[in-house]
Amino acid sequence: MLHIDIITVVPELLASPLSHSILGRAKDRGLLEVDIVDLRTYGLGKHHQVDDYAFGGGAGMVMMPEPLMTCIEDLCSRRTYDEIIYMAPDGEQLDQRMANKLSLAGNLMLICGHYKGIDERIREHVVTKEISIGDYVLSGGELAAAVVVDAVGRLLPGVLNDETSALFDSFQDGLVAPPAYTRPAEFRGWKVPGILLSGNLGAIDQWRHDEAVKRTRQRRPNLLDNDQQD
Ligand code: ADE
Repeated sequence: MLHIDIITVVPELLASPLSHSILGRAKDRGLLEVDIVDLRTYGLGKHHQVDDYAFGGGAGMVMMPEPLMTCIEDLCSRRTYDEIIYMAPDGEQLDQRMANKLSLAGNLMLICGHYKGIDERIREHVVTKEISIGDYVLSGGELAAAVVVDAVGRLLPGVLNDETSALFDSFQDGLVAPPAYTRPAEFRGWKVPGILLSGNLGAIDQWRHDEAVKRTRQRRPNLLDNDQQD
């Protein structure tokens, strides 16, 4: 069972993507538990303030250390986290290998930044890992956190059926996935490769592997250069 706490000032952004399809099933099967923690309940004063002006000036607010720290300490009093993760465009880029590793955890905390991000002291002293989902800037960490939960949640043993097994995903073996076809065998004159209709399972496996290698070379040659082993 993997438990994930997500700290956010916009809980509405997370409810829907985490309740459907495969993740919904993971939760129903008791394999994954995701709690969305509203940072505003830890906010200061009457207005539950969570952000303030940046020291030194400049546009944009910064999330204050105090509410965030109180929230983190509150969560840490209930569980021991394998990682306290801050979602940030300058973090380590998410890939399948990172998702695999995170799926072995018991408890994860994801912190979603907003505005100009969170006070640097929390990053320096409390956060244990920073994750980016790509080289572009989102308006907050929530959608990035949803991506992490999806990529990780589907890897938990028992979440996927045999037919959807993550073992055959793109990237799992350092290759992108081979092309897939379904009925009809001919559509508008476009034919399915004959080998897939041959019933020869050995030949089909070989074809899929060859196609995966070909595609990887064409589309993601970096995967073939990189040493994907740990
Ligand atoms: N927050 C804003 N942009 C982000 C990104 N690309 N990845 C993770 N968190 C983010």
